[in-house]
Parts: sequence; C-alpha cells; structure tokens
Amino acid sequence: MNDRFLKACRREPVDATPVWFMRQAGRYMAEYRTLRQKYSMLEMCRTPELAAQVTLQPIKLGVDAAILFSDILIPLEPMGAPVEFAKGEGPVIARPVRTAKDVETLRVIDPEESLGFVFEAIRMLRKELSVPLIGFAGAPFTLASYLIEGGHSTNYLLTKKLMFSDPACWNDLMARLAEVVRRFLRAQVAAGAQAVQLFDSWVGQLSVDDYETLVAPHVRHILRDLETTGVPVIHFGTGTSALLESMTRAGGTVIGLDWRVRLDEGWARVGHDHAVQGNLDPASFTAPREVIHQRAADVLRRAGGRPGHIFNLGHGLFPEAPVDEVRALVDFVHEFKHA
Ligand code: CP3
Repeated sequence: MNDRFLKACRREPVDATPVWFMRQAGRYMAEYRTLRQKYSMLEMCRTPELAAQVTLQPIKLGVDAAILFSDILIPLEPMGAPVEFAKGEGPVIARPVRTAKDVETLRVIDPEESLGFVFEAIRMLRKELSVPLIGFAGAPFTLASYLIEGGHSTNYLLTKKLMFSDPACWNDLMARLAEVVRRFLRAQVAAGAQAVQLFDSWVGQLSVDDYETLVAPHVRHILRDLETTGVPVIHFGTGTSALLESMTRAGGTVIGLDWRVRLDEGWARVGHDHAVQGNLDPASFTAPREVIHQRAADVLRRAGGRPGHIFNLGHGLFPEAPVDEVRALVDFVHEFKHA
C-alpha cells in the first residue's frame, strides 16, 4: 500500500512528494472518451462498476491517490433538484431554487437511502486500489450557486441577490445543504473513503466579511463533525487568496491553494500546523515539457521539503492536457530532490 498521500496529510515525512490531480479521471484520457461514447456522465456516476472503472483509469499514470469518479452535483437530484449535463454547456438545473418556497421543497436526504451507488463504488474500489481513495462533496456555497443560477455563472448575481436580500432564506438553504453534505461525507468515510475533499470551487467570489457571516458557519457544521472521524479533510477553493485564514478557521486538515498565491506565502498564512495541497496552474500543460517542469520545480522549492505538502494543480485538469505530459509530471514530482 502506497501511503505517501495519507502521511503528507498528517504532516509526516515521506520518501517523495505525493501527487494526484483534481479531475484526474476525465476527457484528457482516451479510455475515458471511449467509455463516454457509450454512456452519459450521469450513467457513469450512477453505475458503481463504471464509476469504479473510471476512477481506476488514471492510477496507471503513477498518482499517489485515487479520487472517486462522481460529481459534486449528484446529491441534488434526490434533494429535489434534478441536474442534467447538457452537451458543451456543463450542468443545467431545470428548476432553479430562488425563493423561500423553493428552498422549503428541498429534502434533507438520508444518503444511505438515495445515494447507495456511491458507497457501492467506494466498497468495490477499496478491494482493488493500492493507493488511498479520496471521497468528496461540494461545499454549500458552491452547490447553492448551481441551484440558484441553474448552472454555471460568471458573476453570481442571483446567488448574491438571495444572500444579501433575504439572509434568513439563504441560511435555511445553506443549512439544508450543509446537513446533506455532512451526512454524505460521513457515509463515504463509513464505506471506506480514506480522505475526503470539500470542493468550495467558487467561494473566491465572496468578500471576507460575507464569507465569515454567511458561509463559514455552515462549512464549520460539516468539518467539525468530519474531524471526529479521524480521516484527513481537504478544504479546497479557487480565487481564495483573500479567504485563506477564514477558510482555515472554518476547518480542514489540508488546505487547498490555487495558483494565484505563492505556495510558501499561502502556507505561512494557513499556518504550518496544517498541510497544504497545490498549486501548479493547470494551464501549465499548454507549455513545452521543460516549462511545465520549471513551474513544478518552483512549487516544490516553495514547499521546501517541509512535511505536509501534497502536489496538485491549483484547479482541475483541462480536457486539453496531454496525457504523456501528465505522466511525465508525476515522475518529475517523485524524482525531485530538495537541495
Ligand atoms: O476529480 C476527479 O477526477 C473526480 C471526478 C469529479 C468530476 N467533477 C467529474 C466530472 C469531481 C471531483 C468533480 C467536481 C466538480 N464538479 C466540481 C468541483 C471541482 C471543480 O472543478 O471546481 C464542480 C464545480 C463540478 C460541476 C461540474 N461537473 C461542471 C461545471 C462540469 C462541466 C465542466 C466540464 O468540464 O465539462 C461537470 C462535468 C464533469 N464532472 C465532467 C467530469 C469528468 C465532464 C463530463 C463529461 O465527460 O462530459
């Protein structure tokens, strides 16, 4: 069993820096595209055999962790807000949630009852994997933004309208999402997930004060409880340079850093009593190999060989990433020697 990743989460010394990639299962791999010609994204997520198969695809690239193949929007359908992945448009929620009445219809589900396929995939994977398995969920703000906007957004105007104009309704929505996410992550750990990541991908849209008052209490509800399971929790967002201290206080064993912040400066702000994950710009894969490796070396030098660094991108892999370069980067990170 390769346990570098779990050791780094606990800030224990490792023989080489562990590396995995957000969106490591996906369209940049030919095997994924082949399977996607036969099945829709949702079919793949809801069929344990397929979810497990896709989760395993990137492991041969040499990564030190697997992340369950699923999507952060999967719990929304049983809550009462079905999601579709429209071709070329990303996720679409046909009946967005915008009023107090809409919020009241959202069910605080029991994941064991309605998301059993996720736990079945986790149990299957634990029998096959020789690296740790990461479970995950979307954080309440990021999930709420999809529910309210009906899909991806550029300026989150409808989300902020609800937050700013009707904080009681906003808090009701966030509380429902937070309780579902808390139960869902706990159940993933019970099924065998050895770490979990909370994706607050779009929280960088918020001011520090709005984050502290309208989001952090709900994140804390989830993370305080998860900490008692003993498995490492990765707390991730993008555009979070202004929020790192607040996000760290909200919880997490490992804090995700995106590429906008220098890794050493971000780590100092998070505090060396936490591990960090990141933070190569995923667009680095557009460059020639020597440039990718120079940029990766800069990230590694900034980590300085201090225990508690997990190498990753600052956000997910793009479908355009060349698979040979992804593999070569894994080797480069493993072979890197700190001076
Ligand atoms: O990281 C992994 O390999 C595990 C699987 C995973 C997916 N989505 C698969 C996926 C994870 C962890 C996610 C998380 C997710 N999903 C996030 C948070 C992470 C992030 O990127 O910020 C968000 C915001 C979503 C919502 C979502 N799902 C969007 C916006 C899209 C469309 C974007 C796109 O690239 O097309 C998806 C679809 C999606 N989720 C795909 C994959 C592999 C592409 C589906 C396809 O094959 O067409």
